[in-house]
Amino acid sequence: MIQAPRGTFDILPESAAQRRLVEDSADRILGAAGYRRIETPTFEATTLFARGVGEATDIVQKEMYTFDDGGGRSLTLRPEGTAPVCRAYLEHGMRKLAQPVKLWYLGAFFRAEAPQRGRYRQFWQVGAEAIGTDTPETDAELIVLLAELLDAVGVKADRLRLSSLGTPATRAEYREELQAYLHAHEDQLADEVRSRIDLNPFRAFDSGDRGTQAVMRDAPKLLDSLDPADAAHFAQVRALLDDAGLPYELDPMLVRGMDYYTRTVFEFTSSELGAQSGVGGGGRYDGLIELLDGPPTPACGWAAGVERMLLAAGELPHPSELVDLFVALARTGTGEEQRGFELTRQARRAGLQAQLELTGRSLKGQLKHADRLGARFVAIVGDNGVATLKDMESGEQRDTEVENVIPSILRAERLP
Ligand code: HAM
Repeated sequence: MIQAPRGTFDILPESAAQRRLVEDSADRILGAAGYRRIETPTFEATTLFARGVGEATDIVQKEMYTFDDGGGRSLTLRPEGTAPVCRAYLEHGMRKLAQPVKLWYLGAFFRAEAPQRGRYRQFWQVGAEAIGTDTPETDAELIVLLAELLDAVGVKADRLRLSSLGTPATRAEYREELQAYLHAHEDQLADEVRSRIDLNPFRAFDSGDRGTQAVMRDAPKLLDSLDPADAAHFAQVRALLDDAGLPYELDPMLVRGMDYYTRTVFEFTSSELGAQSGVGGGGRYDGLIELLDGPPTPACGWAAGVERMLLAAGELPHPSELVDLFVALARTGTGEEQRGFELTRQARRAGLQAQLELTGRSLKGQLKHADRLGARFVAIVGDNGVATLKDMESGEQRDTEVENVIPSILRAERLP
């Protein structure tokens, strides 16, 4: 039997209500803060991610679904949304709009990672980006908005990790300092970390290896080497979060998977999730737009995984669907089908959730089915234009003209 590809999943009707809650909450919370929805294509030119996310990152090195489109162009299924949103910002001349341009998105993303609980090859993200401002208020506001979204969805996010990466210049200096430190402790590092000292020394902070972790505890920290402007920016972000009453932990070891970050970075984690504990995260990326051949344009944003949010929220009671009317067929003659078909269409036009009997069930079977659906009323349509309208709550029933069925239900539903 053909199955869904490894690391992918079907979104079944049972989870529709929960996913709608995520979308509606994002729409309400981000909409109220002036963020407007944007959707970008599912695939983009490969260079967008190679340049935007960074050649040395795991995402670009091992996790992209890249293909030739047949015309010699290399395309990639989007592994993240920030680079595409920045591409769209430039492509549509959004820098001519009043800044910042505040955008949010919800869609599917793709990474060829080893699948496990909370980690998929196709997953969904809701994300927000504020482009064209470098104020610390923007960072703090974005973090607070993500906290509110997680709260609205019922996610128990128990930690907010916060750090600052400074500017690329500070980072370059710090990178050399860190490399020197790692080389001095090479013998205590995991092979994988040692082999990447020159390519990406920051990843050493991410290692699961005990020996490496011990070395990294005493490693020089970027937070201690921020230049005065970056340090002031970070202090203001923290002051605003303090004022907002949002607790966070300073985590100088916080490593994010993309190269575009500058200054503030953050991540919400939930212990409900196990190994893949990151529910949502982001940060400032002041250099990305320039990297994509745009003018210098500071920006900040985040993304949260929809599946991880739902895993961390646990089972929400999903409201059963309301069925106002089930149209059953008396099975006593001909012409019932047409009458039933027409009655169902009219009921829907009148705003009722109406379902027609679509199989060959006996009348008894149909009533049982209507009961299972939770139908409020059943109309049993006969071929003489008369229907028996049954109130499934009280059990009362009476015969009436088919034309009277809908007005009767509307009257009854208005009088509880
Ligand atoms: P990210 O941390 O790579 O950031 O992804 C954001 C969220 O997407 C994660 O916290 C996680 O919930 C979810 N996620 C990532 N990979 C997977 C996966 N394989 N399976 C399931 N869920 C996953 C970004 O993507 C940045 N673009 C965020 C950002 C926006 N930074 C600035 N603006």
